[in-house]
Amino acid sequence: MVSAKIAIIGFGKIGSAVLESLEINGDYLRERTGTNIEVGAILDIRDFSDHPKKHLFLNGIDDIVENAEIFCVVETIGGIEPAYSFIKKCLNAKKHVITANKELIATHGSELFIEAEKNGVNLMFEASVGGAAPVINTMTGALAANKIEKIEGILNGTTNFILTRMYSEGLSFEEALDEAVKRGYAEPQDPSEDIDGLDAKRKISILTSIASGHYMNLDFIPTKGISKVTKSDLLLAKMSNGTIKLIASAEIYDNGGSVASVSPMFVSNEDEFSKVSDSYNMIRFSCNLADRIEVFGRGAGRLPTSGAILSDIIEIATKKQTRKPLWRRSGVEKKAISTKKYDYFATSSSSYKEKISEMFRVVSTSESVDGRISYLLSGYTEHEMEELTLCLLSDGMEMSVYRVF
Ligand SMILES: NC(=O)c1ccc[n+]([C@@H]2O[C@H](COP(=O)([O-])OP(=O)(O)OC[C@H]3O[C@@H](n4cnc5c(N)ncnc54)[C@H](OP(=O)(O)O)[C@@H]3O)[C@@H](O)[C@H]2O)c1
Repeated sequence: MVSAKIAIIGFGKIGSAVLESLEINGDYLRERTGTNIEVGAILDIRDFSDHPKKHLFLNGIDDIVENAEIFCVVETIGGIEPAYSFIKKCLNAKKHVITANKELIATHGSELFIEAEKNGVNLMFEASVGGAAPVINTMTGALAANKIEKIEGILNGTTNFILTRMYSEGLSFEEALDEAVKRGYAEPQDPSEDIDGLDAKRKISILTSIASGHYMNLDFIPTKGISKVTKSDLLLAKMSNGTIKLIASAEIYDNGGSVASVSPMFVSNEDEFSKVSDSYNMIRFSCNLADRIEVFGRGAGRLPTSGAILSDIIEIATKKQTRKPLWRRSGVEKKAISTKKYDYFATSSSSYKEKISEMFRVVSTSESVDGRISYLLSGYTEHEMEELTLCLLSDGMEMSVYRVF
């Protein structure tokens, strides 16, 4: 039997789960792959001198880079530094790298792919988007023959959990966030990466870059989070047979250009996205051959995410092929502007009804609940809608606006 040793750098929630899931599924993997995948080294800044596997813990990245037995390094530290420098060192030492780090891939993916190709090794990152839901392997494997024209997704489990609780239990944003923190879904110190949509932005950047073959610059992705979504917005959405979900979406054009955005949207009860609850993720691909493909699964969590990392390890250990960079940074990145017109679901104080009916093309309005009403507004580009709501604001009136998905 072939033996293959990996190293884990960053032994937190996900890194420790990789060791654990190799223990749980080790026999099964040996039988299926004919390869004995073992953890040969671990690196973390915390003290693990009492850990049952304490003999595996090393002192620095150089101990891993210089260890000829290690063929593949799993990076689960997170953030840009030192993860970026560590990964570069490992690639240059001709070690395959697997990472769950969306921030790093969405920022430095293009150059790291070139580094990997130059050294004849792979840089894989299935766990970085969708957690356990097999999103990237679906794009690069099962859908490889397709042009992917549109991607839509619920890509962040924390915000989906919060919106689900607000919808089903009538909680305020603050109450639902508090519950997400208590259940370990949101970072207690700083939940902003999830709440403000940054995490979903990085993920849609990665997916759009794969689909188009060109880097989707994070600066070109307009992003709105969910902190301004109120319980009355969700109640009014419910009365209009829908809900509000944080949707990341992208359109990819034939010329390789693309647009992407992240924002809370009104989703009708008839759409499958409305049924994605709690911390689950769902991604929908619209393709030129396969038509519509949906991938659904646990967007985060220790063992589910570790399974995605193991699938990358198996791919590398058994296929021995070096893959081409999935996208490249183009010379000049251009910001595309969508001229599409959309419908909008909006809510405001009932007292602004007359003014809003004068300013907007209102298709329908709801009953008043707690002094607020909702409107269905028809046929505006995102830019037009932004200008009009700013106009309203400058007159001292507010309106919450959600694009109809
Ligand atoms: N959690 C999830 O469900 C999930 C799902 C998908 C993807 N991911 C991604 O997986 C990665 C890891 O997430 P996680 O939740 O496992 O994070 P985590 O629990 O914070 O684990 C990171 C570990 O790395 C250690 N570390 C920090 N700096 C280090 C250094 N210089 N050298 C070695 N170790 C270092 C940390 O120690 P300290 O605690 O002392 O800093 C911690 O033990 C992130 O990129 C995240 O986005 C996570």
